[in-house]
Amino acid sequence: MQPTGSRSRRSPTRDATDSGQDNKATERVVAGAVQAEDTPLDVSLRPRRLTDFVGQEQVKDNLGIAIQAAKLRGEPLDHVIIYGPPGLGKTTLAHIIAQEMEVSIRVTSGPAIERAGDMAAILTGLKPWDVLFIDEIHRLSRPVEEVLYSAMEDFFLSWMVGKGLAARNVNLRINPFTLVGATTRFSLVSAPLRDRFGSVFRLDYYQQPDMELVVGRSAQLLGVEAEGAGVTEIALRSRGTPRVANRLLRRSRDYAQVMAEGRITGQVAREALEMLKVDALGLDQSDHRLLTSLIDKFEGGPVGLETLAASLSEDSDTVMEVWEPYLLQLGFLDRTPRGRVATRRAYAHLGRVYPEAVAQDQGRLAGL
Ligand SMILES: Nc1ncnc2c1ncn2[C@@H]1O[C@H](COP(=O)(O)OP(=O)(O)OP(=O)(O)O)[C@@H](O)[C@H]1O
Ligand SMILES: [Mg+2]
Repeated sequence: MQPTGSRSRRSPTRDATDSGQDNKATERVVAGAVQAEDTPLDVSLRPRRLTDFVGQEQVKDNLGIAIQAAKLRGEPLDHVIIYGPPGLGKTTLAHIIAQEMEVSIRVTSGPAIERAGDMAAILTGLKPWDVLFIDEIHRLSRPVEEVLYSAMEDFFLSWMVGKGLAARNVNLRINPFTLVGATTRFSLVSAPLRDRFGSVFRLDYYQQPDMELVVGRSAQLLGVEAEGAGVTEIALRSRGTPRVANRLLRRSRDYAQVMAEGRITGQVAREALEMLKVDALGLDQSDHRLLTSLIDKFEGGPVGLETLAASLSEDSDTVMEVWEPYLLQLGFLDRTPRGRVATRRAYAHLGRVYPEAVAQDQGRLAGL
């Protein structure tokens, strides 16, 4: 996808292979310390405190109050689930929660926990008030998830070991903790699990003023000289996503160092991003490939997700979770009951003529 390839999903066994401290499926880190998924640079740019976290005011206000109240009561924070598209700050917020609560964080992910016993081992290893961060929480298997239910509600574990006549129930008290779950697919989190979270936070794409703050903040942290126009240009093309903004800033910095004595002006940013084939709306070659495939191979749709993904040699989950959300947000793509459709806006952006036959078909679909 992107030149760095970082928009594809991470390996399901990432935590199991990258960690190796306390437990196979988790890593214990001091709040705010390095996490395996980001490059060292991303980590240095990651906000550590709630006040450094740009935008998402409603989430910050509610989270800030919940944290303060928990500390005043002398209790761990109630369980939190954070959802939204990739790169908007879910993992960052999980670390901030631990930092603000002054506790340590254990990091794992849904696919890394294979058996109920693994989940039980993680939970019994938690110190009082620890934050347990489970990324991709929608991918927990049902037996693993069931261990969480009583743990979340009563800090109590109850699970079956053995089979047949040898089967017995094990009950165990565990330390009070805070579960922070993150997901890009909230609808796939089962209702019983969802109901056990005290707070549900949704992160949305950032608006332009907030994106400019993100770029300006990162430029300052990196010691890059960026003019207002350069910051604006990078923010405009970052698809409302801080992770993308940081990547485009780094690439613009490279370009500026070689071509413009290190200074990112509006012109320098435009040239740098054009070289990366990131267009004025932040669409890259992958987005163009998806839209042109939809238009040229499938006459603008409707086409099923699986078929579209196969035509791009991508798996359908990646297309749905990573590629589509921003195109939907721009109104370039529609999800209809019969499949994906390229909109009039998408045709216009690509400089294509919108065929009347498609217009009529979409009119019919809208009436469905
Ligand atoms: N509100 C913010 N203010 C400043 N920087 C941010 C903010 N949110 C995210 N970032 C930056 O963007 C990077 C990506 O954020 P993060 O890893 O938290 O995203 P995510 O939602 O967990 O993504 P994924 O779904 O891919 O796991 C962070 O390293 C951080 O530097
Ligand atoms: Mg994350």
